[in-house]
Amino acid sequence: MTRNPMPVFYKDWEALAAEKLERGAFEYIRGGSGSGETLLANETAFRQWAIIPRVLRDVSSVEISTSILDQPIQAPILLAPVGYQKLAYPQGELAAAKAAEKAGVPYIASTVSDYSLEEISEHTPQGNNWFQLYWSTNEALTFSMVKRAEQAGYKAIVVTVDTGVLGWRSSSFVHHFSPVRATRGGANFRKDPVFQALVTEWTEDNIIKEIENNKRRDHMTWDDILRLREITSLPIILKGIQHPKDAEKAAELGFEGIIVSNHGGRQLDAAISSLESLSPIVDAVKDRIAIIVDGGIRSGTDVYKALALGADAVSIGRPYIYGLAAYGEEGVVQVIEQYKSQLISALRLSGEANMKHLSRENLHRY
Ligand code: FNR
Repeated sequence: MTRNPMPVFYKDWEALAAEKLERGAFEYIRGGSGSGETLLANETAFRQWAIIPRVLRDVSSVEISTSILDQPIQAPILLAPVGYQKLAYPQGELAAAKAAEKAGVPYIASTVSDYSLEEISEHTPQGNNWFQLYWSTNEALTFSMVKRAEQAGYKAIVVTVDTGVLGWRSSSFVHHFSPVRATRGGANFRKDPVFQALVTEWTEDNIIKEIENNKRRDHMTWDDILRLREITSLPIILKGIQHPKDAEKAAELGFEGIIVSNHGGRQLDAAISSLESLSPIVDAVKDRIAIIVDGGIRSGTDVYKALALGADAVSIGRPYIYGLAAYGEEGVVQVIEQYKSQLISALRLSGEANMKHLSRENLHRY
Protein backbone atom coordinates (compact mmCIF):
# COMPACT_ATOMS: atom_id res chain seq x y z
CA MET A 1 0.00 0.00 0.00
CA THR A 2 1.42 3.38 -0.89
CA ARG A 3 1.00 6.01 1.69
CA ASN A 4 0.03 9.56 0.93
CA PRO A 5 3.04 11.82 1.25
CA MET A 6 3.02 14.15 4.20
CA PRO A 7 2.01 17.76 3.59
CA VAL A 8 4.73 20.27 2.81
CA PHE A 9 3.01 23.61 3.35
CA TYR A 10 1.58 25.05 6.54
CA LYS A 11 -1.91 25.42 5.12
CA ASP A 12 -1.97 21.73 4.18
CA TRP A 13 -0.78 20.65 7.65
CA GLU A 14 -3.51 22.85 9.10
CA ALA A 15 -6.15 21.32 6.82
CA LEU A 16 -5.08 17.81 7.78
CA ALA A 17 -5.21 18.69 11.48
CA ALA A 18 -8.70 20.12 10.95
CA GLU A 19 -9.78 16.77 9.47
CA LYS A 20 -8.29 14.74 12.32
CA LEU A 21 -9.39 16.79 15.32
CA GLU A 22 -12.73 17.51 16.90
CA ARG A 23 -14.01 20.96 16.07
CA GLY A 24 -13.68 22.38 19.60
CA ALA A 25 -10.10 21.19 19.98
CA PHE A 26 -9.07 22.38 16.52
CA GLU A 27 -10.61 25.83 17.01
CA TYR A 28 -8.96 26.16 20.41
CA ILE A 29 -5.57 25.50 18.78
CA ARG A 30 -6.10 27.53 15.62
CA GLY A 31 -7.86 30.54 17.08
CA GLY A 32 -6.65 33.85 18.42
CA SER A 33 -8.22 36.44 20.64
CA GLY A 34 -10.83 39.05 19.68
CA SER A 35 -11.40 39.33 15.98
CA GLY A 36 -8.03 37.79 15.21
CA GLU A 37 -6.23 40.98 14.11
CA THR A 38 -2.93 40.05 15.73
CA LEU A 39 -3.18 36.42 14.67
CA LEU A 40 -3.44 37.59 11.07
CA ALA A 41 -0.86 40.36 11.46
CA ASN A 42 1.71 37.86 12.73
CA GLU A 43 1.60 36.08 9.38
CA THR A 44 1.18 39.07 7.06
CA ALA A 45 4.12 40.91 8.64
CA PHE A 46 6.42 38.36 7.02
CA ARG A 47 4.94 39.06 3.58
CA GLN A 48 6.10 42.67 3.89
CA TRP A 49 9.70 41.58 3.65
CA ALA A 50 11.43 39.97 0.70
CA ILE A 51 14.85 38.40 0.38
CA ILE A 52 17.34 40.01 -2.01
CA PRO A 53 19.48 37.18 -3.37
CA ARG A 54 23.22 37.51 -3.94
CA VAL A 55 24.88 35.39 -6.64
CA LEU A 56 28.27 33.96 -7.62
CA ARG A 57 29.25 33.12 -4.07
CA ASP A 58 30.39 29.73 -2.80
CA VAL A 59 27.43 28.21 -0.98
CA SER A 60 28.48 24.58 -1.38
CA SER A 61 28.51 24.23 2.39
CA VAL A 62 25.86 25.85 4.54
CA GLU A 63 25.60 25.44 8.30
CA ILE A 64 22.39 25.94 10.25
CA SER A 65 23.47 24.46 13.57
CA THR A 66 24.15 27.14 16.15
CA SER A 67 23.87 27.69 19.89
CA ILE A 68 21.46 29.36 22.23
CA LEU A 69 22.23 30.06 25.92
CA ASP A 70 25.58 28.36 25.19
CA GLN A 71 23.76 25.14 24.31
CA PRO A 72 24.37 23.61 20.87
CA ILE A 73 21.24 23.25 18.71
CA GLN A 74 20.90 21.75 15.25
CA ALA A 75 18.81 24.62 13.88
CA PRO A 76 17.80 28.06 15.18
CA ILE A 77 14.31 26.72 15.90
CA LEU A 78 12.60 25.83 19.17
CA LEU A 79 9.25 24.22 19.87
CA ALA A 80 7.15 26.82 21.71
CA PRO A 81 5.28 25.90 24.88
CA VAL A 82 1.80 24.75 23.98
CA GLY A 83 -0.52 23.43 26.67
CA TYR A 84 -2.81 20.38 26.60
CA GLN A 85 -1.17 18.49 23.74
CA LYS A 86 -3.40 15.45 24.26
CA LEU A 87 -5.96 17.57 22.41
CA ALA A 88 -3.84 16.98 19.32
CA TYR A 89 -2.57 13.43 19.92
CA PRO A 90 -2.89 10.86 22.72
CA GLN A 91 0.87 10.81 23.47
CA GLY A 92 0.82 14.63 23.37
CA GLU A 93 3.92 16.21 24.87
CA LEU A 94 5.79 12.88 24.99
CA ALA A 95 5.59 12.57 21.20
CA ALA A 96 6.41 16.23 20.52
CA ALA A 97 9.37 16.30 22.93
CA LYS A 98 10.72 13.07 21.41
CA ALA A 99 10.55 14.66 17.97
CA ALA A 100 12.46 17.71 19.23
CA GLU A 101 15.08 15.41 20.74
CA LYS A 102 15.45 13.58 17.40
CA ALA A 103 15.67 16.84 15.44
CA GLY A 104 18.18 18.34 17.89
CA VAL A 105 16.14 21.39 18.89
CA PRO A 106 14.87 22.53 22.31
CA TYR A 107 11.41 21.59 23.51
CA ILE A 108 9.72 24.07 25.84
CA ALA A 109 7.29 22.17 28.07
CA SER A 110 4.24 24.17 29.20
CA THR A 111 3.11 24.44 32.82
CA VAL A 112 -0.26 23.20 31.56
CA SER A 113 1.10 20.10 29.82
CA ASP A 114 -0.95 16.92 29.84
CA TYR A 115 2.11 14.88 30.82
CA SER A 116 4.16 15.95 33.82
CA LEU A 117 7.53 17.59 33.37
CA GLU A 118 9.15 14.48 34.92
CA GLU A 119 7.42 12.14 32.44
CA ILE A 120 8.57 14.34 29.54
CA SER A 121 12.20 14.37 30.66
CA GLU A 122 12.25 10.62 31.38
CA HIS A 123 10.97 10.03 27.87
CA THR A 124 13.70 12.20 26.30
CA PRO A 125 16.99 11.40 28.06
CA GLN A 126 19.05 13.19 25.37
CA GLY A 127 16.57 16.06 24.99
CA ASN A 128 17.22 19.74 25.48
CA ASN A 129 14.08 20.57 27.43
CA TRP A 130 13.15 23.96 28.89
CA PHE A 131 10.31 24.54 31.33
CA GLN A 132 7.70 27.26 30.73
CA LEU A 133 6.31 28.71 33.92
CA TYR A 134 2.95 30.30 34.52
CA TRP A 135 3.31 32.21 37.75
CA SER A 136 0.82 30.63 40.14
CA THR A 137 -1.35 32.55 42.58
CA ASN A 138 0.47 30.37 45.11
CA GLU A 139 4.17 31.21 45.17
CA ALA A 140 5.14 28.01 47.00
CA LEU A 141 3.61 26.08 44.09
CA THR A 142 5.47 28.23 41.55
CA PHE A 143 8.80 27.61 43.23
CA SER A 144 8.06 23.92 43.74
CA MET A 145 7.56 23.50 39.98
CA VAL A 146 10.82 25.32 39.30
CA LYS A 147 12.69 23.03 41.70
CA ARG A 148 11.13 19.98 40.08
CA ALA A 149 12.20 21.24 36.64
CA GLU A 150 15.76 21.69 37.92
CA GLN A 151 15.82 18.19 39.36
CA ALA A 152 14.43 16.71 36.15
CA GLY A 153 17.28 18.23 34.13
CA TYR A 154 15.51 21.11 32.40
CA LYS A 155 18.00 23.60 31.00
CA ALA A 156 16.11 26.90 31.28
CA ILE A 157 13.03 28.45 32.84
CA VAL A 158 10.80 30.39 30.45
CA VAL A 159 8.50 32.71 32.41
CA THR A 160 5.46 33.74 30.40
CA VAL A 161 4.70 37.36 31.28
CA ASP A 162 1.82 38.19 28.93
CA THR A 163 -0.87 36.00 30.47
CA GLY A 164 -1.79 37.56 33.83
CA VAL A 165 -5.36 37.47 32.55
CA LEU A 166 -6.51 35.37 29.64
CA GLY A 167 -7.12 37.05 26.28
CA TRP A 168 -10.67 37.66 25.12
CA ARG A 169 -11.10 34.32 23.30
CA SER A 170 -14.20 33.17 21.53
CA SER A 171 -13.18 29.51 21.96
CA SER A 172 -14.07 29.79 25.65
CA PHE A 173 -17.32 31.73 25.51
CA VAL A 174 -18.74 30.73 22.12
CA HIS A 175 -17.65 27.08 22.01
CA HIS A 176 -17.48 26.80 25.85
CA PHE A 177 -14.37 24.75 25.36
CA SER A 178 -12.30 23.96 28.43
CA PRO A 179 -9.02 22.27 27.47
CA VAL A 180 -8.25 21.15 31.00
CA ARG A 181 -11.60 19.36 31.22
CA ALA A 182 -11.26 17.92 27.72
CA THR A 183 -7.95 16.20 28.50
CA ARG A 184 -8.29 15.80 32.29
CA GLY A 185 -5.10 17.81 32.14
CA GLY A 186 -2.92 19.64 34.61
CA ALA A 187 -0.44 16.80 35.24
CA ASN A 188 2.16 19.21 36.66
CA PHE A 189 -0.35 20.31 39.28
CA ARG A 190 -1.64 16.85 40.12
CA LYS A 191 1.91 15.59 40.73
CA ASP A 192 2.99 18.52 42.88
CA PRO A 193 3.12 18.03 46.68
CA VAL A 194 2.26 21.71 47.32
CA PHE A 195 -0.80 21.40 45.07
CA GLN A 196 -1.83 18.07 46.58
CA ALA A 197 -1.95 19.68 50.01
CA LEU A 198 -4.36 22.32 48.66
CA VAL A 199 -7.00 19.87 47.47
CA THR A 200 -9.05 18.78 50.44
CA GLU A 201 -11.07 16.11 48.65
CA TRP A 202 -9.35 14.46 45.65
CA THR A 203 -12.27 14.50 43.19
CA GLU A 204 -12.00 15.49 39.52
CA ASP A 205 -14.17 18.58 40.04
CA ASN A 206 -12.13 19.76 43.02
CA ILE A 207 -8.86 19.14 41.22
CA ILE A 208 -9.94 21.16 38.20
CA LYS A 209 -11.32 23.93 40.42
CA GLU A 210 -7.98 24.18 42.27
CA ILE A 211 -6.00 24.10 39.01
CA GLU A 212 -8.09 27.03 37.77
CA ASN A 213 -7.65 28.87 41.11
CA ASN A 214 -3.91 28.40 41.18
CA LYS A 215 -2.97 28.54 37.52
CA ARG A 216 -2.01 32.16 36.99
CA ARG A 217 -1.39 35.24 39.04
CA ASP A 218 -2.82 38.46 37.66
CA HIS A 219 -0.55 40.94 39.41
CA MET A 220 2.94 39.72 38.75
CA THR A 221 5.71 42.34 38.56
CA TRP A 222 9.44 42.56 37.89
CA ASP A 223 10.06 42.09 41.64
CA ASP A 224 8.45 38.64 41.52
CA ILE A 225 10.69 37.49 38.73
CA LEU A 226 13.74 38.82 40.52
CA ARG A 227 12.81 36.54 43.44
CA LEU A 228 12.91 33.63 41.02
CA ARG A 229 16.56 34.44 40.42
CA GLU A 230 17.21 33.76 44.12
CA ILE A 231 15.87 30.24 43.97
CA THR A 232 17.28 28.94 40.69
CA SER A 233 20.58 29.06 38.90
CA LEU A 234 19.01 28.07 35.59
CA PRO A 235 18.91 30.68 32.82
CA ILE A 236 15.67 32.70 32.92
CA ILE A 237 13.92 33.72 29.71
CA LEU A 238 10.97 36.15 29.67
CA LYS A 239 8.33 35.20 27.12
CA GLY A 240 5.88 37.77 25.82
CA ILE A 241 8.10 40.86 25.45
CA GLN A 242 6.93 43.34 22.79
CA HIS A 243 8.11 46.78 23.91
CA PRO A 244 11.79 47.75 23.54
CA LYS A 245 11.69 49.34 27.01
CA ASP A 246 10.70 45.99 28.54
CA ALA A 247 13.46 44.28 26.56
CA GLU A 248 15.93 46.83 27.92
CA LYS A 249 14.73 46.27 31.45
CA ALA A 250 15.11 42.50 31.04
CA ALA A 251 18.68 42.99 29.81
CA GLU A 252 19.52 45.47 32.58
CA LEU A 253 18.25 43.08 35.24
CA GLY A 254 20.51 40.37 33.85
CA PHE A 255 18.00 37.88 32.49
CA GLU A 256 19.49 35.54 29.90
CA GLY A 257 16.88 35.80 27.19
CA ILE A 258 13.56 37.08 25.91
CA ILE A 259 10.96 35.63 23.61
CA VAL A 260 9.46 38.41 21.50
CA SER A 261 5.92 37.14 21.33
CA ASN A 262 2.24 38.06 21.50
CA HIS A 263 1.31 34.49 22.44
CA GLY A 264 0.44 33.63 18.86
CA GLY A 265 -2.25 36.34 18.74
CA ARG A 266 -4.11 34.75 21.66
CA GLN A 267 -3.73 37.50 24.26
CA LEU A 268 -4.15 41.21 23.44
CA ASP A 269 -5.96 41.46 20.13
CA ALA A 270 -4.69 44.44 18.10
CA ALA A 271 -1.25 44.03 19.70
CA ILE A 272 1.67 44.68 17.36
CA SER A 273 2.77 41.69 15.26
CA SER A 274 5.82 39.82 16.54
CA LEU A 275 7.96 40.60 13.53
CA GLU A 276 7.17 44.33 13.72
CA SER A 277 8.17 44.41 17.37
CA LEU A 278 11.44 42.62 16.64
CA SER A 279 13.50 45.41 15.01
CA PRO A 280 13.16 48.05 17.77
CA ILE A 281 13.98 45.35 20.33
CA VAL A 282 17.04 44.24 18.35
CA ASP A 283 18.20 47.87 18.21
CA ALA A 284 17.79 48.13 21.99
CA VAL A 285 19.35 44.88 23.27
CA LYS A 286 21.11 42.87 20.53
CA ASP A 287 24.08 40.88 21.92
CA ARG A 288 23.17 41.75 25.51
CA ILE A 289 20.48 39.09 25.84
CA ALA A 290 19.36 36.12 23.70
CA ILE A 291 16.49 37.13 21.41
CA ILE A 292 13.98 34.50 20.28
CA VAL A 293 10.88 35.47 18.32
CA ASP A 294 7.65 33.56 17.76
CA GLY A 295 4.31 34.10 16.03
CA GLY A 296 3.38 33.49 12.41
CA ILE A 297 6.58 31.69 11.40
CA ARG A 298 5.26 29.35 8.76
CA SER A 299 8.29 28.32 6.68
CA GLY A 300 12.07 28.25 6.50
CA THR A 301 12.05 31.54 4.62
CA ASP A 302 10.17 33.13 7.53
CA VAL A 303 12.96 31.86 9.81
CA TYR A 304 15.48 33.45 7.43
CA LYS A 305 13.70 36.82 7.62
CA ALA A 306 13.54 36.75 11.43
CA LEU A 307 17.26 35.97 11.63
CA ALA A 308 18.08 38.72 9.12
CA LEU A 309 16.13 41.15 11.31
CA GLY A 310 18.30 40.20 14.27
CA ALA A 311 16.68 37.28 16.10
CA ASP A 312 19.08 34.63 17.45
CA ALA A 313 16.44 31.92 16.98
CA VAL A 314 12.72 31.46 16.46
CA SER A 315 10.08 29.29 18.04
CA ILE A 316 7.05 27.75 16.40
CA GLY A 317 3.72 26.79 17.97
CA ARG A 318 0.79 25.81 15.77
CA PRO A 319 2.94 24.40 12.94
CA TYR A 320 4.30 21.53 15.04
CA ILE A 321 0.98 20.97 16.81
CA TYR A 322 -0.59 20.37 13.38
CA GLY A 323 2.22 17.90 12.60
CA LEU A 324 1.47 16.21 15.93
CA ALA A 325 -2.26 16.04 15.18
CA ALA A 326 -1.60 14.60 11.72
CA TYR A 327 1.08 11.96 12.39
CA GLY A 328 2.22 12.14 16.03
CA GLU A 329 5.96 12.18 16.66
CA GLU A 330 6.74 11.48 12.99
CA GLY A 331 4.67 14.47 11.92
CA VAL A 332 6.52 16.80 14.27
CA VAL A 333 9.90 15.53 13.06
CA GLN A 334 8.75 16.09 9.51
CA VAL A 335 7.63 19.67 10.20
CA ILE A 336 10.97 20.55 11.82
CA GLU A 337 12.94 18.89 8.99
CA GLN A 338 10.95 20.86 6.43
CA TYR A 339 11.82 24.13 8.19
CA LYS A 340 15.47 23.11 8.27
CA SER A 341 15.65 22.17 4.61
CA GLN A 342 13.81 25.32 3.50
CA LEU A 343 16.19 27.44 5.56
CA ILE A 344 19.20 25.72 3.98
CA SER A 345 17.72 26.18 0.54
CA ALA A 346 17.01 29.89 1.19
CA LEU A 347 20.57 30.45 2.40
CA ARG A 348 22.02 28.74 -0.68
CA LEU A 349 19.73 30.51 -3.14
CA SER A 350 20.44 33.89 -1.58
CA GLY A 351 24.21 33.37 -1.62
CA GLU A 352 24.69 33.25 2.16
CA ALA A 353 26.86 30.38 3.38
CA ASN A 354 26.96 31.67 6.93
CA MET A 355 23.64 32.15 8.67
CA LYS A 356 25.32 34.40 11.25
CA HIS A 357 26.11 36.96 8.55
CA LEU A 358 22.46 37.61 7.74
CA SER A 359 21.42 41.21 8.25
CA ARG A 360 18.83 43.73 7.10
CA GLU A 361 20.90 44.10 3.94
CA ASN A 362 19.56 40.72 2.87
CA LEU A 363 16.02 42.06 2.92
CA HIS A 364 13.81 44.50 1.07
CA ARG A 365 10.75 46.04 2.69
CA TYR A 366 7.81 46.59 0.37
C1 FNR B 1 0.00 28.51 23.07
N1 FNR B 1 0.98 29.32 23.65
C2 FNR B 1 1.37 29.12 24.96
N2 FNR B 1 2.34 29.89 25.51
C3 FNR B 1 2.77 29.67 26.77
O1 FNR B 1 3.66 30.37 27.25
N3 FNR B 1 2.22 28.65 27.52
C4 FNR B 1 1.24 27.85 27.04
O2 FNR B 1 0.78 26.94 27.74
C5 FNR B 1 0.75 28.11 25.73
N4 FNR B 1 -0.27 27.36 25.21
C6 FNR B 1 -0.66 27.54 23.88
C7 FNR B 1 -1.65 26.73 23.35
C8 FNR B 1 -1.98 26.83 21.99
C9 FNR B 1 -3.02 25.91 21.43
C10 FNR B 1 -1.30 27.77 21.18
C11 FNR B 1 -1.59 27.87 19.70
C12 FNR B 1 -0.34 28.60 21.72
C13 FNR B 1 1.69 30.32 22.81
C14 FNR B 1 2.90 29.69 22.12
O3 FNR B 1 3.91 29.39 23.04
C15 FNR B 1 3.52 30.62 21.06
O4 FNR B 1 3.77 31.88 21.61
C16 FNR B 1 2.64 30.77 19.81
O5 FNR B 1 1.99 29.56 19.48
C17 FNR B 1 3.50 31.22 18.62
O6 FNR B 1 2.71 31.49 17.51
P1 FNR B 1 2.45 30.45 16.29
O7 FNR B 1 3.77 29.81 15.93
O8 FNR B 1 1.45 29.48 16.80
O9 FNR B 1 1.94 31.35 15.24
